[in-house]
Amino acid sequence: MKTFDPVAYKKMVKFYQDQDDPTGWFNNIYTDAEGDYRAVFWADLEPNPYLLKWLKNSPFNHTGRKAIVVGCGVGDDAQALSEAGYEVTAFDISPEAIRLCKKRYSDTKVKYLIADLFDYPSQWFENYDLVYECNTIQVLPGKYRVQARSAMVSLLAPQGFILVSCRSRAQGEQQNDIPLPLDKKEIDGFIGCGLSEESFEAYDDTQEPPVPHFFAVYKK
Ligand SMILES: C[S@@+](CC[C@H](N)C(=O)[O-])C[C@H]1O[C@@H](n2cnc3c(N)ncnc32)[C@H](O)[C@@H]1O
Repeated sequence: MKTFDPVAYKKMVKFYQDQDDPTGWFNNIYTDAEGDYRAVFWADLEPNPYLLKWLKNSPFNHTGRKAIVVGCGVGDDAQALSEAGYEVTAFDISPEAIRLCKKRYSDTKVKYLIADLFDYPSQWFENYDLVYECNTIQVLPGKYRVQARSAMVSLLAPQGFILVSCRSRAQGEQQNDIPLPLDKKEIDGFIGCGLSEESFEAYDDTQEPPVPHFFAVYKK
């Protein structure tokens, strides 16, 4: 198994971004794990606590509603949504990520699929009561961030909710970082897409030094 080297990682991502191939590298991260989902460096290996809090506190019953998880990685959040009662589709552009999910959760109810947010199956359009996004926009550059946001919104059925979880930054800072956290103006772009903001939290995580994050919920 390869040891994670942050300098080599950023160089590799920049190489793909400079070729205007912003999604060409994701599968490398999963193949580097050599079949062990625990070796994927960005995987927390537990559901997002802000997702769990939202599931617990939201006033409606989740059972039987349809959810889709964008860029599902190794599947912890998709499984949490399924356990809460959603019929879950979870997709990732990385075939190896999906292979790891299917191996990890061999008897899951979640439909794990290889798919590209930028070219998703037409039957997904406006088909979901809940869209869940965690940390995908921030690993995309430039115009692809805006396209990703629009594509996520287009998956939402009328009255549907989108949950957005990401790292955050102050406006104008960290412009060349990989990943590039979202600033407030970027995340407010979901409101610009015609959604209403149901809740918005800015918080620091428990790492040392702490990393600032946003967790926001919007409704169509
Ligand atoms: C930083 S990882 C986050 C994974 C997971 N959501 C998590 O929180 O651990 C971003 C994920 O988005 C996926 N991804 C990036 N672009 C995508 C696209 N266009 N369509 C589908 N998945 C994509 C990557 O393969 C990767 O698994």
